[in-house]
Amino acid sequence: MARCRVAILISGRGSNMVSLIEAARAPDFPAEIALVLSNRPDAAGLERAKAAGIATCVIDHKAHSTREDFEQAMDAALAEHAIAFICLAGFMRVLTDGFVERWAGRMVNVHPSLLPLFRGTQTHRRALEEGVLVHGCTVHFVVPELDAGPIIAQAAVPVVPGDTEERLAARVIVQEHKLYPQALRMICDGTARLENGRVAFSRGWDASGALRSPG
Ligand code: GAR
Repeated sequence: MARCRVAILISGRGSNMVSLIEAARAPDFPAEIALVLSNRPDAAGLERAKAAGIATCVIDHKAHSTREDFEQAMDAALAEHAIAFICLAGFMRVLTDGFVERWAGRMVNVHPSLLPLFRGTQTHRRALEEGVLVHGCTVHFVVPELDAGPIIAQAAVPVVPGDTEERLAARVIVQEHKLYPQALRMICDGTARLENGRVAFSRGWDASGALRSPG
């Protein structure tokens, strides 16, 4: 099996990165994590990637005067490592349309909400403010519009009385760590495909269950 060469782009602690690295250790996983790239030299995830034996690279956005220069440096590093697919995992730089279009259909992101609700930042705080009873996370293809790309997978969690942002975030991140590897597997083994701007699935679903909160 030819495994898809994946780069994970991070800016911080890299807990989703770790979940992808661990999943990709399985011999039947259809992707290999070939590079971890950070825009921040102090991202804690870099050490965690090195400890896992993954090649790392820092492209510091502050060392580049324009977004295009920064992204050209990223493209050069991605080409050097023969990367075919990008996973954004807590990568906190807005990408230009040019970069997103170059990687169209080959770049995915994990977002801490049930999109299209709560695009952008501070998703848990906003979910609590709105009083939603179900929250969650989404893995989606990246398109130029922020957090708006075709949805590959979602996981829902209940919002419970007395929740704080921290408690809700802790409940959601557990699901992110399960969902992201599943979504990457489905994309790389062809179970989920991008077709006319939507994700098409080649396996059937059991539609009898309901996610209900309160249960
Ligand atoms: C994750 O919750 C991820 O969904 C979020 O940042 C966190 C990164 O954590 N991403 C975004 O908000 C992107 N819009 P991690 O570094 O531990 O994976």
